[in-house]
Amino acid sequence: MRTMDARLERLAETDTAHRVAALNRNDKPFHAVLAQQFDRTTIEQLCRLADMIRALGGARQGTQFLRTLLSHRRAMLYFIQPSTRTFLSFAAACQIVGMPYNSVRERSTSSEVKGEAEEDTIRVLSQYFDLIIMRHPAEGFAEHVALIQNEMPRTIPVINGGSGKDQHPTQALLDIYTLFRCFSEPRLEARAETTGAEAPHQRNVAARYTENPFAGKTIAFVGDLMRGRTVRSLTYLLCRYPGVKLLFVSPPELQIGGDILEYVSGNNIAFEISDDLVSRIGECDAVYMTRLQDEHDVDGESKSIDYYRFSLTCEMAGSFKPNLAILHPLPRRKELDQRLDALPQAKYWAQVRNGMWMRAALIASIFSVDVAIRDHYHAYYSF
Ligand code: NCD
Repeated sequence: MRTMDARLERLAETDTAHRVAALNRNDKPFHAVLAQQFDRTTIEQLCRLADMIRALGGARQGTQFLRTLLSHRRAMLYFIQPSTRTFLSFAAACQIVGMPYNSVRERSTSSEVKGEAEEDTIRVLSQYFDLIIMRHPAEGFAEHVALIQNEMPRTIPVINGGSGKDQHPTQALLDIYTLFRCFSEPRLEARAETTGAEAPHQRNVAARYTENPFAGKTIAFVGDLMRGRTVRSLTYLLCRYPGVKLLFVSPPELQIGGDILEYVSGNNIAFEISDDLVSRIGECDAVYMTRLQDEHDVDGESKSIDYYRFSLTCEMAGSFKPNLAILHPLPRRKELDQRLDALPQAKYWAQVRNGMWMRAALIASIFSVDVAIRDHYHAYYSF
């Protein structure tokens, strides 16, 4: 039997294209484990699908239609690392597409306490369920599980809901979906004004995904970038959009990993590194705040860091661009002033809700019911 360690060592040596190929089927994600699996077409298809699900989900008939789609499938939410919003977001997403689910949230209630290898626990789960959605403290474990699935007689898809300090691809999908919506809204409003068209949310939403709204935009990532997996995954997605500029603002001890910077420059994306949020906030079109990930401290080493300098405060609001989008994967601590919640630039609650629609879209796409959704949407909702 292949062990986790040997597998992870080999994974580190395998190039990204091979890793992606092992997780995709017909060039589209079958397992959703790495952000690098999502190219621009796939990202934008998912965003459109999320928009359709959201529109259908707004009415009784549409909601009832969605619930029929996957009522014959079952999901396992294997979340053995703390989570409220991601867990509940996936639970809600399953409910939207009618998929019953069960969960394991504690290793202490599994047969692992009897000495069962975690791999075997997961092999067993895959005999009862049709989808595994997992959050795990170990980097690479979701990928390891997906590869185990590929070897099983009955292969079921694996969705990574957060793997150690490494990746959180579904958070990145909902983040980019949120950015698309934020960046296209002013543009759509302007277009509606000049063309006399209706509300931007209706006729023009299709235009949202026909252009690259990231070209010429500066997106800042702020905080503990070394250990925050959401920033790593979102950076991979943003590298699909030429012309975007990335600004990594963090204490020098907690800067983003060299592997990510290598990926960014390898994709010809402009970036800068800074440790001074106050002087840079005025140039940002989006700012992605993150908390200190001190659960990863080995010896309380982050206690000596002045994290307050990496906080977004009300006092800075005078420098904000009018269309700045403030994002945060949450949970927040003091790095995001609660008084900012009332500003139109605060997009983090919308970001949470976007996550539910995006995760429903991802599940629908993995199970190929996206076509049925599109047909239904166009039959009943487009005009
Ligand atoms: C993030 C995570 O778990 O990585 N939260 C989330 O999923 N929304 C960010 C964090 O814990 O700081």
